[in-house]
Amino acid sequence: MDTTGEPIPKTMTEDDAQLHEVTEASIIHLVDTFYHDIRRHPLLGPIFNARIAPDAWAPHLEKMYAFWSSVMLTSGRYKGNPVAVHQQVGGITPELFGHWLDLFEATASRLFVPAIAEEFVVKARRIAESLRLALFFRPDAPWSSDLRDRASSSAKGI
Ligand code: HEM
Repeated sequence: MDTTGEPIPKTMTEDDAQLHEVTEASIIHLVDTFYHDIRRHPLLGPIFNARIAPDAWAPHLEKMYAFWSSVMLTSGRYKGNPVAVHQQVGGITPELFGHWLDLFEATASRLFVPAIAEEFVVKARRIAESLRLALFFRPDAPWSSDLRDRASSSAKGI
């Protein structure tokens, strides 16, 4: 236990072999480590801690085990709607997705051999991008009409 009251995940030492297989157990290790670190991240930590009360972390982590099990092992264990859930997360911004991915990539690379870390990271990038688009892309946003204006300006030879 540390000051947040959560168990500290086992950390890798030089004697530990890096994980070389995607299993339910290695997913648990990744998820526990990632969310242990995210709670202390200067930008992401406050968002997670505002939304997830100390006693709600265990069910959140269970959900995330199921999510990554569905993604990596196609187990179908996760049932949910991430877009709808993230729409309710206060303070989430498009820029934070880059920080989320940086931390996820660092965690996966620390725990897994490179080929497996890459498998996680490729999936995470795709999901992050589709989540970010679903949450923030607006076809009628100002930059879209800017592009239309530029197109019509150049059509007029300006
Ligand atoms: C800026 C980036 C992100 C932030 C701040 C964020 C924050 C959160 C928070 C606070 C929750 C808990 C919501 C609740 O239970 O009320 C949550 C749930 C979740 N997040 Fe994220 N998230 C981010 C990116 C991602 C990405 C990139 C993924 C997937 C690769 C992801 C997957 C999930 C899933 C599966 C849940 C559980 C949804 C459910 O309840 O069914 N999140 N996120």
